[in-house]
Amino acid sequence: MDSPRLDSLLKQTRFSHQDIVALLSLDEPTDVECLRKAAEAVTFQYCSNLVYYRGIVEFSNRCALDCHYCGIRRSNTRVGRFTLTKAEIVEAALWCASEGYGSVVLQSGERKDPSFIDFVEDIILTLKADSVSEALPRGLGITLCVGEQTPETYQRFFNAGAHRYLLRIETTDPGLFHEIHPENQTLDSRLACLRSLQAIGYQVGTGVMIGLPGQTLDMLARDVTFFRDFDIDMIGMGPYIRSQDTPLPGSESIEKSSAFKLGLKMIAVTRLVCRDINIAATTALQALEPDGREQGITFGANVTMPNLTPTEVRKDYQLYDGKPCINEGKGECRSCLLNRVRSVGREVGFNAWGDSKHFAGRH
Ligand code: 5AD
Ligand code: FES
Repeated sequence: MDSPRLDSLLKQTRFSHQDIVALLSLDEPTDVECLRKAAEAVTFQYCSNLVYYRGIVEFSNRCALDCHYCGIRRSNTRVGRFTLTKAEIVEAALWCASEGYGSVVLQSGERKDPSFIDFVEDIILTLKADSVSEALPRGLGITLCVGEQTPETYQRFFNAGAHRYLLRIETTDPGLFHEIHPENQTLDSRLACLRSLQAIGYQVGTGVMIGLPGQTLDMLARDVTFFRDFDIDMIGMGPYIRSQDTPLPGSESIEKSSAFKLGLKMIAVTRLVCRDINIAATTALQALEPDGREQGITFGANVTMPNLTPTEVRKDYQLYDGKPCINEGKGECRSCLLNRVRSVGREVGFNAWGDSKHFAGRH
């Protein structure tokens, strides 16, 4: 793109579908660097220099669903199934509070049975009560990522003390959504869940996979418009990476290095379009490039998720092949990520929830 046109495009605050496609299509390294700088400037203007930690506990890989891309899908018999005990989950989460992380994410496969719901609710109640300290007077911020549930269940979790919820839409393209999921999982039901979470008062996060087979830049541009028009507060998105234990093939049109670059461009463009939301630099970026998460931060991300899952079970929570940090422990991820954040000139926002500014704005 000629540079006067790119300069004026990057100064806009409102973007059309064609603008977004044009930005995602940038390929010249100098153009991509202009995009990166613009996204970084918007991050500083609307958020800050701080990167917030959300310690993530992947507490169970038992899953009732069968997504065609996911390594812990129900039909995968090659993975050993586990559910951490309450004591193990609480221990990991309280460790993260004592390390000053401020927020925890509880993630698992999707289950709707009453014993699972009771289990999660009980853990939220315990964590809220036990994590209050001088440094964290309101206790740990709790984000849930346990899939599609009924509005009643979402309300119970909210009442127990969870205040953020992550539910990726995966793709907003109806045809593509249908191709990567079994018949009984629908885009409409996912959208209804997101609406219900918003109505209850959660800070709501979503996201997509980038580089899915058959995915186009048009589809990705519509995903970004969706994040804006749906008033999403938080985004977690990263490249799609093939898992050999699943039926979905790798993308034929997008090779690994382009999926990585597209992942960075999606972060930058989402930052330009949505401005004051929280955006995570996800582990999938690091699976493709050793410094992928740092690059995500310089392209507009302001959140990262150190892994707190006990090392013994990490190998059984591989949603895709080549997931990093499989052999590390939570202490190693702590110092490793701190170095990564500082290596790009940013600081970690310790002992804070680091809520999405966008959420405050819409309330
Ligand atoms: N590659 C990249 N991301 C994946 N996820 C699941 N499987 C894969 C994969 N093969 C993502 C989905 C899900 C999140 C928890 O992990 O977007 O919502
Ligand atoms: Fe886990 Fe680097 S973040 S080892």
